[in-house]
Amino acid sequence: MSSGNTLIEIENVGKTFVGQDGERIMALDSTDLGIGHGEFLSIVGPSGCGKSTLLSLVAGLLETTTGAVRIGGTTVSGPYTDIGFAFQSDLLVDWRTVLGNVMLQCDMRGLARRDHEPRARELIASVGLEGFEDKRPFELSGGMRQRVALCRALLLDPPVLLMDEPFGALDALTREQMQVDLLTMWQETRKTVLFVTHSISEAVFLSDRIVVMTPRPGRVCEIIDVDLDRPRDFTIRDTASFGAIVHRTRLLFQEMGVIHK
Ligand SMILES: Nc1ncnc2c1ncn2[C@@H]1O[C@H](COP(=O)(O)OP(=O)(O)OP(=O)(O)O)[C@@H](O)[C@H]1O
Ligand SMILES: [Mg+2]
Repeated sequence: MSSGNTLIEIENVGKTFVGQDGERIMALDSTDLGIGHGEFLSIVGPSGCGKSTLLSLVAGLLETTTGAVRIGGTTVSGPYTDIGFAFQSDLLVDWRTVLGNVMLQCDMRGLARRDHEPRARELIASVGLEGFEDKRPFELSGGMRQRVALCRALLLDPPVLLMDEPFGALDALTREQMQVDLLTMWQETRKTVLFVTHSISEAVFLSDRIVVMTPRPGRVCEIIDVDLDRPRDFTIRDTASFGAIVHRTRLLFQEMGVIHK
């Protein structure tokens, strides 16, 4: 797929790891996928099917065994820096304040603080954490920490955001709020988002399309179009069309034997 609107091209990408005893683990098998400019694309699949591996390949943190990843037409061949990364565990630095954590990329790249601190403060305020700039991570709740991690990923305004189960560790209510907040941010910035989740309803709520992966070695099983109107709010979960897409996705996992009745 290489239409004009495609930003990220994943072409025939496979990844085989060599374990400590020399055994080979094929995590990902010939995966083809195109992600459009400004698209919100979710990836769902059983544990161990290579979702995190795929994100690391896109970020250039791992090398492909077969195939190639291209971003904006250029093959990724090392850590790709124009990218924001958010993980399941927020990986905040304990000894840095909220502001210090959001400023991490700026400091690591030796950029001038005065050029980025105003934006960092603006981001912190935009996620409702004004007044918490000087707190340390241990003084925050899980949802607050995850918001800080999101601000950190957004600081240098990367066009691409990779999110690996960022809300997996949150309680259900906080998680729903974070989904709404993420959608608001995405609506305003139209970043290209690659979002990994185990939650089918989370994927349906957020995405333009959902990639359903097979069990390991992961391949694309099916791509589901989420043709629900935007902007979306949480009431959309109660609609029949939302339920129909959730149902269709779940059926795919049943057919693959990943979930049973
Ligand atoms: N660095 C590594 N060395 C060896 N094997 C690895 C490495 N990283 C991942 N694997 C293996 O590759 C497979 C895919 O792992 P990956 O973390 O991508 O799965 P995942 O889909 O993200 O799973 P989960 O949903 O549990 O996070 C697994 O079998 C895992 O054991
Ligand atoms: Mg993973």
